Amino acid sequence: MKPFSFKSLSATSYTSVLEKLDSLRAGLRWSSQLERPEIERLLSQTGELREEIQLLSRKQRFLQAYDALSENAALTDSASSLSLSERRKALMDRNFVFEGVFGDNPKLLESFEIAQLAAPTGLPVLIEGESGTGKELLARVVHSNGRHRDGPFVSVNCGAIPEDLIESELFGHKKGAFTGATSDRKGKFESANGGTLFLDEIGELPLSGQVKILRALQAREIQRVGSDDIIRVDTRVVAATNRNLREMAQAGTFREDLYYRLSVIKVTLPPLRDRRDEIPLLIDYFCSEAASQLERPPVKMSRELRTFLRTYDYPGNIRELRNLVFRLSCLADDYADTKHLPEELRVSLNETQVPSLTSNRPLSRGISLIDAKKAASDEAEKEFLENALHETSGSISELARRIDMNRSHVQVLLKKHGIDFRKYRVANDNTKSRSLESDITV
Ligand SMILES: Nc1ncnc2c1ncn2[C@@H]1O[C@H](COP(=O)(O)OP(=O)(O)O)[C@@H](O)[C@H]1O
Ligand SMILES: [Mg+2]
Repeated sequence: MKPFSFKSLSATSYTSVLEKLDSLRAGLRWSSQLERPEIERLLSQTGELREEIQLLSRKQRFLQAYDALSENAALTDSASSLSLSERRKALMDRNFVFEGVFGDNPKLLESFEIAQLAAPTGLPVLIEGESGTGKELLARVVHSNGRHRDGPFVSVNCGAIPEDLIESELFGHKKGAFTGATSDRKGKFESANGGTLFLDEIGELPLSGQVKILRALQAREIQRVGSDDIIRVDTRVVAATNRNLREMAQAGTFREDLYYRLSVIKVTLPPLRDRRDEIPLLIDYFCSEAASQLERPPVKMSRELRTFLRTYDYPGNIRELRNLVFRLSCLADDYADTKHLPEELRVSLNETQVPSLTSNRPLSRGISLIDAKKAASDEAEKEFLENALHETSGSISELARRIDMNRSHVQVLLKKHGIDFRKYRVANDNTKSRSLESDITV
């Protein structure tokens, strides 16, 4: 790549565009009235200028993408030597907007890093992942970090539109274009102009709709159904699917050309069962979210319930976990227990009998020995830390000293279990408060 010559070319071209604009303005300033041929000439000159500016802005975006890629190369070089929290901090330092997405799993961070690089380029982004893994949330992240952030974010569920209405839904229609078209109507592409169009469940879009989207993406212009007018749109497209589009393209059920166009940047969000390390953090996060929405203190959970929540498979992924936590926060008083789970989960709980380390019952379906051991060991670790924090009145330094562990390692463990050491502070104890302050500020 030759960024140097590219940049200097852009600079000269900007000057020439400005010169042309100035001469147009001078012509207009001295004319008292314009005849039709003169208007036509001016229109054609402004049309040419418009094309030139568009070309320049494309170059500009290319340069931005190039800079981002160079930055990425540096990032990848050093990524292996950076801890997860450092990588997250690096994103924050670059003013990355997280939009409430939570988690430190390496695959999730990788998605953020890709999203951050892709956001300013305006390139289409394809997000793959099972239902409830956070695809729409990530689409919002791409939107909020890109140059379309001040424009609208319009979401369309492609699987929910009847086939004969797709064109009108996406591109709008003119009054009288078909029976029922009683007035002119904007489509989603036009509504998202200057912003982002989120095409959810794109794998459900019939082939006829796929062709039309491809055309709109290529030409960056649309036509309302029943109208000859061409409308130029500057709409950033982010698509999501829980299906494997590549396989669908190979099988001929999804257009290959559209697949390649959409997947210039592809991000795959892992299912929750493949990032179980995040479950305690997410539970804690949703507990406080539910607490503030339901205006109650965060619900506490019995050991058996926690073990279940950590080992359950979550076919509905994060959405299911969030809904469960909200349900528990709504139904339970202070303590939630497995009896507060929905009936179908209680049935599976009885079937699997989530074992504890002290249980001699044989393992049954649905839970592996490794998961069971991990859950029990996590539980024991959490309990140990909570008791120890109680004893040290919330001082991390003191806790680290007593258990002979590095302070930052203790912090990682507390974070993993969603333990807030501040809750263990003892009021009116100056000595302890001082040592706590050092915990917070260091
Ligand atoms: N990493 C995350 N942190 C916090 N909340 C999340 C996360 N991922 C998903 N969610 C929440 O889970 C629910 C489902 O997310 P969504 O983006 O709609 O998933 P999808 O589009 O993949 O079905 C939403 O309420 C969303 O806010
Ligand atoms: Mg969704």
